[in-house]
Amino acid sequence: MRISLTVNGARREADLWGGESLLAVLRDTLELPGSKNACEQGECGSCSVLLDGELVCSCLVLAAQADGHAVVTVEGLADGEELHPVQQAFVDAGAVQCGFCTPGLVVAVTDLLSSTPDPGDDEIREALSGNLCRCTGYAKIFDAVHLAAERR
Ligand code: FES
Ligand code: FES
Repeated sequence: MRISLTVNGARREADLWGGESLLAVLRDTLELPGSKNACEQGECGSCSVLLDGELVCSCLVLAAQADGHAVVTVEGLADGEELHPVQQAFVDAGAVQCGFCTPGLVVAVTDLLSSTPDPGDDEIREALSGNLCRCTGYAKIFDAVHLAAERR
């Protein structure tokens, strides 16, 4: 089947089989590898994207469900060469180690700050509970969220 969707503001089309995930189509067909594939079962959040403005694990969404809808991936957040403020805050706070979780966290934090501009630690913990990081111990990630909130 063929689907047509908006990805990072651009109209895109993709041929796929009915059981293919949105994550697979983003990475393999549309050549947007920013969303990471770590578990493929909704456990880690490394594949987080916005689907019509709602945070989803793209590994759990059928690509066919995105037909006619709008997707924003981590690649769609930066403004050309200029990092998105959340990306810059992750860099400045030293919240990136191996970086595998980072794209999903950046999308999730962007989503959090759009609804909660100055989140407390409990709100951050709740919002990021679906995003696993195996490296940082989360302290620097919390610093990055607070830094991004301060700069908004
Ligand atoms: S790859 Fe989607 S939640 Fe882990
Ligand atoms: S920085 Fe390595 S998993 Fe988070």
